[in-house]
Amino acid sequence: MDKFIINGGKKLSGIVEISGAKNAILPIMAAALLAKGKSVLHNVPHLIDIKMMAHVMRVIGARIDFEGDTMEIDATHASYCEAPYELVSKMRASIYVMGPLLARFGSARVSFPGGCAIGTRPVDLHLKAMEALGANIEIEHGYILANAPKMHGSEIHFEKVSVGATANTLMAAVLTKGETNIFNAAIEPEIGSLIDFLNLMGAKIDGKDTTHLKIIGVNKLKPAEMTMIPDRIEAGTFVIAGAITNSPITVSNCQPAHIGILLDKMKVAGFDFEIGENSLKVIPSETINPVNIQTQPYPLFPTDLQAQFLALMTLANGTSIIEETIFPDRFMHVSELNRLDANIVLNKNIATVNGVKSLSGAEVMATDLRASATLVLAGLAAQGQTTISRIYHIDRGYERIEEKLNNLGADIKRVKG
Ligand code: UD1
Repeated sequence: MDKFIINGGKKLSGIVEISGAKNAILPIMAAALLAKGKSVLHNVPHLIDIKMMAHVMRVIGARIDFEGDTMEIDATHASYCEAPYELVSKMRASIYVMGPLLARFGSARVSFPGGCAIGTRPVDLHLKAMEALGANIEIEHGYILANAPKMHGSEIHFEKVSVGATANTLMAAVLTKGETNIFNAAIEPEIGSLIDFLNLMGAKIDGKDTTHLKIIGVNKLKPAEMTMIPDRIEAGTFVIAGAITNSPITVSNCQPAHIGILLDKMKVAGFDFEIGENSLKVIPSETINPVNIQTQPYPLFPTDLQAQFLALMTLANGTSIIEETIFPDRFMHVSELNRLDANIVLNKNIATVNGVKSLSGAEVMATDLRASATLVLAGLAAQGQTTISRIYHIDRGYERIEEKLNNLGADIKRVKG
């Protein structure tokens, strides 16, 4: 297993370019299963999660070519309606094939995703929505067996906002006869992007960026070509990299509006930004004010930036309260940050972060994707050397992160395991 060795305390400068959004691309890849023919996706980063999803799609029978940042998905011969345990256990997003397989073939057998490093992640909302559309769901030997020779439009009221369940339901409903209305739908930009792709395929979805989506089922869809949106979580992580190292870096090829809440919170912390159409420059601040956050569905503070923001608050001039409401156990980074001399006290889903004057390098272990990014951020700010083991987690969701940071002036070495 590879490690990162970071010599901290370096100032950063320059421009970093953000890659395509993993969490937008994974469901869009699954959506390509809905039509015979070749869909083309541009601005696709080389990430382990995306390669894993390609593997899941190949098992189903799709042909995938991935060169440069363009991925071609030919789902003409897709026919095997299964996502096996070996793959789903490594990548939960495999659950996204359930909606498209049900809609196109009337059946799906998908391994039940277990928990993961960020805690319990149920799929009951996905299953209830499939049932509402006419599917018969059974759980057998750890697999979800979904069968629906005939589906029908329905009204679906989600009791909680769920990105995954909204995406799966959309992909099932577009080929389902009649009208489907989804209430309390997620409005994350990744859902908007999926809606754009499905509509390019010929779907009829109204209500993009609102919590009420209306879908009129069509008989057939065609393949589509689209450029993927930039990754707002990668953009937010680099913004925090600039802030935590007190460096005026420019984050380019991003959509600043997608991280509006992060920028608002960082302004309270004392930072400022020069905002362009597709870029933003971090104006650093000598002192960091403490700021409280609570994670919530978009457009409020994203759970995927909680850990990184917490790292920034370890150096604030006072105490901040970080509350996680989406995945209450998502705090594996806390004990590792404390090894770097942070002062964080965890009580259930609330972290009390008592700011310290400086962090100091140590050996730490990455536990999940965003937690690994957090340790990198802390390592950049810490005095001395930080060694982060198990960084395969970071390769799941950040494309060439050490190369991008080193181009800005960081000193990070990848040591092959
Ligand atoms: C969530 C995040 C998404 C992030 C992703 C990866 C939200 C709303 N979603 O998406 O932004 O990119 O994690 O970190 O912030 N839930 C159920 N039953 C279900 C599905 C979900 O109870 O069937 C609950 C979850 O436990 C969670 C909440 O609903 O508390 C939101 O989950 P959901 O949006 O579905 O999770 P992801 O799609 O993984």
